Amino acid sequence: MNFQELLKKRRSIRNFQKKEVPIEVITDIIKEACLAPSARHSQPWRFSVITHKDTIKRLSDESKKNILAGIAVNPDSPHKAYEAAMHNERFNVFWNAPCLVFIYGPKKHDYLDCDCALAAAYLMFAATERGLGTCWIGLGSHIENPELRKEIGLTEDDRIVAPIIIGYPKSIPEPRDRAEPEVVFISS
Ligand SMILES: Cc1cc2nc3c(=O)[nH]c(=O)nc-3n(C[C@H](O)[C@H](O)[C@H](O)COP(=O)(O)O)c2cc1C
Repeated sequence: MNFQELLKKRRSIRNFQKKEVPIEVITDIIKEACLAPSARHSQPWRFSVITHKDTIKRLSDESKKNILAGIAVNPDSPHKAYEAAMHNERFNVFWNAPCLVFIYGPKKHDYLDCDCALAAAYLMFAATERGLGTCWIGLGSHIENPELRKEIGLTEDDRIVAPIIIGYPKSIPEPRDRAEPEVVFISS
């Protein structure tokens, strides 16, 4: 697969085969994610890998609960559109994926979002190149319970930037259309 093919092949995957992702594969993908650039080469990213099904479900429930609490105090929340899904006991925000990777780091780091998002992009391409499917799950980042955070290796000084699910896809959809880029060319 050349790079252009890889760019088109990466799609958000929400339907997975019942097949584990070998831990060595996850380790290799994470190493490649760390080839991403970072501000001042600070590499603030940390990774928490969860393959325990029950823990992934508890993390989904925790995120849903906190999203609903956010909607209750702010009815204009952008999450309002997902309110019914958040109430649905059977809906797992992580789409029942066999593996979940949180990319996170110290919240005081000035470029944490940019650096972790770049690592997430690299991670998604590294996974795609190995025939895996991924999806960034913004709805899964609302993990506040201190004990649950501790269980997955996060301190109170950390912030989750990118929850990424990984698994072998049942199928890969065709690329979605993109809007034409808005570009201003300034040339002499
Ligand atoms: C920051 C971010 C948050 C996202 N959150 C979710 C999410 O919570 N649930 C989900 O199913 N997809 C989520 N997605 C996936 C997007 O819906 C998807 O990237 C977009 O529709 C384009 O489709 P493609 O990735 O297949 O090209 C998220 C993507 C990004 C970049």
